[in-house]
Amino acid sequence: MVTSIFISLLSAIVLAQAAVIVPGASWTDTAGNVIQAHGGGFSKVDSTYYWFGEDKVLDSTLFHAVSCYTSTDLETWTRQNDALTPISGTMISASNVVERPKVRTQTMTDLIPKNQNTEYVMWFHSDTSNYGAAMVGVATAKTPCGPYTYKGSWKPLGADSRDEGLFQDGTAYLLYASDNNQNFKISMLDTNYYNVTEEVSVLTAAILGDKLNISQVYYLIASHTSGWDPNPNKVFTASSLAGPWSSQVDIAPEDTNTYYSQNAYDMPLGTNAIYMGDRWDVSALGSSTYIWFPLSWSSGLPVIVEADVWSVDLAAGTYTIATGTTYEAESGTLGGSAELLTDSSYSGGKAVGFLGDGGTLTMNNIVGIGEAQWVSLYYANGDSTWRNTTLSVNGGANVVIQQPSSGGGHVIQSVPVKVNLKNGANVLTFSNGQANFAGDLDKIIVYTAT
Ligand SMILES: *[C@@H]1O[C@H](CO)[C@@H](O)[C@H](O)[C@H]1NC(C)=O
Ligand SMILES: *[C@@H]1O[C@H](CO)[C@@H](O)[C@H](O)[C@H]1NC(C)=O
Ligand SMILES: *[C@@H]1O[C@H](CO)[C@@H](O)[C@H](O)[C@H]1NC(C)=O
Repeated sequence: MVTSIFISLLSAIVLAQAAVIVPGASWTDTAGNVIQAHGGGFSKVDSTYYWFGEDKVLDSTLFHAVSCYTSTDLETWTRQNDALTPISGTMISASNVVERPKVRTQTMTDLIPKNQNTEYVMWFHSDTSNYGAAMVGVATAKTPCGPYTYKGSWKPLGADSRDEGLFQDGTAYLLYASDNNQNFKISMLDTNYYNVTEEVSVLTAAILGDKLNISQVYYLIASHTSGWDPNPNKVFTASSLAGPWSSQVDIAPEDTNTYYSQNAYDMPLGTNAIYMGDRWDVSALGSSTYIWFPLSWSSGLPVIVEADVWSVDLAAGTYTIATGTTYEAESGTLGGSAELLTDSSYSGGKAVGFLGDGGTLTMNNIVGIGEAQWVSLYYANGDSTWRNTTLSVNGGANVVIQQPSSGGGHVIQSVPVKVNLKNGANVLTFSNGQANFAGDLDKIIVYTAT
């Protein structure tokens, strides 16, 4: 499904120190509830960021609410009133689909004024439960979180529109998967942002995406169409929105399927940007997690910087990646049917496999600082389905950590877990008491940043 980007000049505001960003963890809001803002879009009004997304708390693809969260640091989020809720008898009833909401207005300080109405205009993918209608929906409000007044759903310029994004650069554009997902289109919006007026570009590729204008080059970051499953997201460049667009280039190692995510949005950060994706959990959509990574232009083209624990400095337009202490799995004690695996793709050339179903791994002398700490598990899961592992700290109750397909038996990815470590040496036991196989464990990294 998709991505989105808008051009912003981040204002130099001084921010309070906040929490870290941990991709793939379960994120909670300031009330302690799990953040329900999947397929999100972001807007900024003065110094406040607004995160609009799909509330999937019912674990259903059907429309429940477009949520609205606010933050001044991108790390601490407060839930506000719902921006859009179902209206029976319309295309946004609770038996239809509303996905990937995006809001634009002229009143956003970081956007070039265009809409003369001082109105907030929300665009979203509007569809029936079988995704057969393929429409856009539009709603408006006088305040950022609304609630929004629904204006209608239709096919832009008479053509399909499924996964979509908005791009604003003096003029606003709809970016959308069209023609039965066979083409990707860019169409210009009218000055009120109520409708599209003309097609600007058609990429004959089944992709979805959003775009960034940096140094007069447009970067279109897009996902292929693969339902809820992740795929290797790509970047295309052009000096004009009308193209010609370059051929596609990976933004992450291809095997990892963009670290098991799909791009939803990309937010400028200084001379770089933030990749904001969804790791959809099809078995429990409301448990899907957010995968945000720094997107670095240091090589000339945007590339995801894999970061377990990181933070942004919005005033400086920079990001900082936390460092931790690495412990190799092979330095632990193998129990039961666990086996040492050897391959050059593993850190130190070795990993521990056949965990679960009787195989266990015990790692001693894991140094903690007496706090709830982030620990990242680097694992390989070559299955297309998810695995999981149990973890017990110092003989305490097991927690279960999900391990999505890593993209191959020798492709390593990380998943985070927050556990209480005591000051000094701790004992971590993996995969005890589970009948199913866990991923092969390469190493763990213990962080102190919280
Ligand atoms: C949007 O424009 C199309 C023509 O492309 C038109 O058929 C449709 O009625 C318009 N929708 C609205 C809500 O104005
Ligand atoms: C893209 O951004 C540059 C500034 O970096 C600006 O001069 C140019 O007009 C923008 N392109 C369009 C089509 O707005
Ligand atoms: C762990 O994975 C197995 C499949 O390998 C699955 O049957 C089980 O439900 C999962 N447990 C949790 C808590 O997700």
